Amino acid sequence: MLRTALCDQLGIEYPVILAGMGGVSMHRLVAAVSNAGGLGIIGAATLDAAALRDEIHRVRELTDKPFAVDLLAPIPEMIRPQMQVVFDEGVKIFVAGLAVPQQFIAEMHERGMTVIVMIGKVRHAVKAEMAGADVVAAQGTEAGGHTGEIGGMALVPQVVDAVKIPVIAAGGIADGRGLVAALALGAQGVIVGTRFIATPEAQAAPAYREAILRSGEADTVRTRCYTGKPARTIRNTYNESWERRQDEIKPFPLQVMYSAQQGVMDYMGVGQGADPERCFMPAGQGLGLIRDNKPAAEVLADIVREAQEVLAALAERHSRD
Ligand SMILES: Cc1cc2nc3c(=O)[nH]c(=O)nc-3n(C[C@H](O)[C@H](O)[C@H](O)COP(=O)(O)O)c2cc1C
Repeated sequence: MLRTALCDQLGIEYPVILAGMGGVSMHRLVAAVSNAGGLGIIGAATLDAAALRDEIHRVRELTDKPFAVDLLAPIPEMIRPQMQVVFDEGVKIFVAGLAVPQQFIAEMHERGMTVIVMIGKVRHAVKAEMAGADVVAAQGTEAGGHTGEIGGMALVPQVVDAVKIPVIAAGGIADGRGLVAALALGAQGVIVGTRFIATPEAQAAPAYREAILRSGEADTVRTRCYTGKPARTIRNTYNESWERRQDEIKPFPLQVMYSAQQGVMDYMGVGQGADPERCFMPAGQGLGLIRDNKPAAEVLADIVREAQEVLAALAERHSRD
């Protein structure tokens, strides 16, 4: 019931895709989602070329299922070394997280790769399609991490109408109801981010995971104070303090470097750890739907089961009417 053409295109069983969350979606989580029938995406934004190669090898040690690599390319030349690794390693699916990496698209297609581009506006979806994207992911403002201003409920169907390529919905989706809603809007699948952070496989600081489990729909803020670009994060005293001095925020990526110096970027918990009153803790507005830390395979199976139940209940209601 849930299988879409996108599943065949990506070689997956269910139209549920792990967001390529920079620093969080590493080999254990990626492999767990791919092994469970979804698509795992390595969030490679924080990795240099050698670390990316290592992550790809580790994913392959854990699964023989399809997986993808996500990179942020605000200036495409910045990711050339990582792109070489993607090519050398024969990665089949690439996700462009921040801009269309136009100069790499021809080579990706020559190599038989599928290119997915994240977008937050109809205009950007059209541009991505024209540049050769095979799939666009329409990310609503509800989403965790860098995000635009348009709500997913409005954005997804308008993108579906504007492009011929398949559309994936992202932002605030954490259960089977969200998956069914996305399919009803014309999307062929969903990208799920924040829900997968509350899993033992995610690379996340314990304080970050705990903050996700106790927060609700109104506890996030969209701020430029950590990276220089608008990103949705859990509200705390540090990011509130920036509300009054927006003009001091440097452009991306200078603000990222400043934030790293301030010790507020370790949400993945690999260094000094996360102080929840100061740290960047990217999270979407679906937070209140996430109340348990459970294995990624269970998260995926629950989304699929619930979506099937919702569809069955809708069909039954319809047949009674
Ligand atoms: C911790 C975190 C890091 C993220 N990093 C990236 C990234 O590096 N590249 C990217 O394309 N999207 C990134 N995103 C956005 C996701 O791809 C996705 O669109 C979003 O998580 C979906 O919304 P949700 O978190 O409400 O499920 C990130 C999101 C989070 C929560």
